[in-house]
Amino acid sequence: MFDLLIRNATLPDGRTGLDIGITGGRIAAVEAGITTEAGEVIDAAGLLVTPPFVDPHFHMDATLSLGLPRMNVSGTLLEGIALWGELRPTLTREALVERAVRYCDLAVSKGLMAVRSHVDVSDPRLVTVEALLEVREIVAPYLDLQLVAFPQDGFYRCAEAEAALTRALDMGVEIVGGIPHFERTMEEGARSVAALCRLAAERGLRVDMHCDETDDPLSRHIETLAAETVRHGLQGRVAGSHLTSMHSMDNYYVSKLLPLMAEAEVAAIPNPLINMMLQGRHDTYPKRRGLTRIPEMLATGITVGFGQDCVLDPWYSMGTGDLLDVAHMALHATQLGSGADKRALFDCVTVNSAKIMGLEGYGLDVGCHADMVLLQARDPAEAIRLRPNRLKVIRRGKVVAQTAPEVSTLDLPGRPGHVDPADYAPRHAS
Ligand code: FE2
Repeated sequence: MFDLLIRNATLPDGRTGLDIGITGGRIAAVEAGITTEAGEVIDAAGLLVTPPFVDPHFHMDATLSLGLPRMNVSGTLLEGIALWGELRPTLTREALVERAVRYCDLAVSKGLMAVRSHVDVSDPRLVTVEALLEVREIVAPYLDLQLVAFPQDGFYRCAEAEAALTRALDMGVEIVGGIPHFERTMEEGARSVAALCRLAAERGLRVDMHCDETDDPLSRHIETLAAETVRHGLQGRVAGSHLTSMHSMDNYYVSKLLPLMAEAEVAAIPNPLINMMLQGRHDTYPKRRGLTRIPEMLATGITVGFGQDCVLDPWYSMGTGDLLDVAHMALHATQLGSGADKRALFDCVTVNSAKIMGLEGYGLDVGCHADMVLLQARDPAEAIRLRPNRLKVIRRGKVVAQTAPEVSTLDLPGRPGHVDPADYAPRHAS
């Protein structure tokens, strides 16, 4: 007897007509034609069941603060940082917790159940850290929240940052962050990468740095990050977020850099919505896209996971909590449009990011946590195209969010009475 049985599911790998049996919050069976009884049955009707969406790069201390204390008029990264600096002294733990938990409600409704959030440690009060540690506890039953100690104002550029970052780790923040391109000089940036990797190695922690979030082709901190990863034996535990300077780098240099990243098993976390919005600001025309080299990274075997970075905050007045919006933007910006490409992009918002975060029990195999999402779409390519409703969001075998199917009624002469966007899926593989 299963607690829950999902009938007739299509999985992201293309298998169809499968039933998923769930017992005790774990997946107990994935096969066709299960006859075992179940306490509850959900008919997936051939639609896509995916493991949860995963966001490996977010700022939960800033989310939903758009307009506080004023709007970002220029729309640039640097005005966003300045604006956040104005807001930061006024932040209270209560307000931070309230906004972050409210954001998590939205995330879960979109089938997003794991988030890695950077936490600014530049204000020595560390109210942001206290608040997000509390949020991590509150949301733990329905969302896995990882925290990165992020020296937004620079590890060396801000006098208090080193002590504050160390204290944040002592308080329970589990990942070491950095921002080498924001240090005063290239040399100090490189030194910050070395120091932060050493700190992570000493404490047995993962590393995730904002790295080279600039259009400057000479911003090459990713090279140092890869080298320091190997030096400290941190392979598979380090990520470089953004890496936008790679868009503008010399091709010959990149041909050396990509294998270095692959050798060091440094993961890449592009943030396509933000990168398209914030980069290229000093260009007239042609205007660079400012997104890192995603197709070449995937071809080199580098693990790539897409983040949202921001939702309704000083840097970005958009955002929905929907990782499929991110994949949709990435598809257009990278021109990765084939059927295989779309599958690969879907992995960038699900399994790849779970691997980067080191999530235990993630996936749709027997023994995994019974965490999954039923989408109103027939396959991953259609999911990216439609960004469809999440019909059921399941956490540990329990439905924690649901949305009615999107169906429009029609009143047109000689035409059908309704339109279901999922019915427009091509009947052959693209
Ligand atoms: Fe960020």
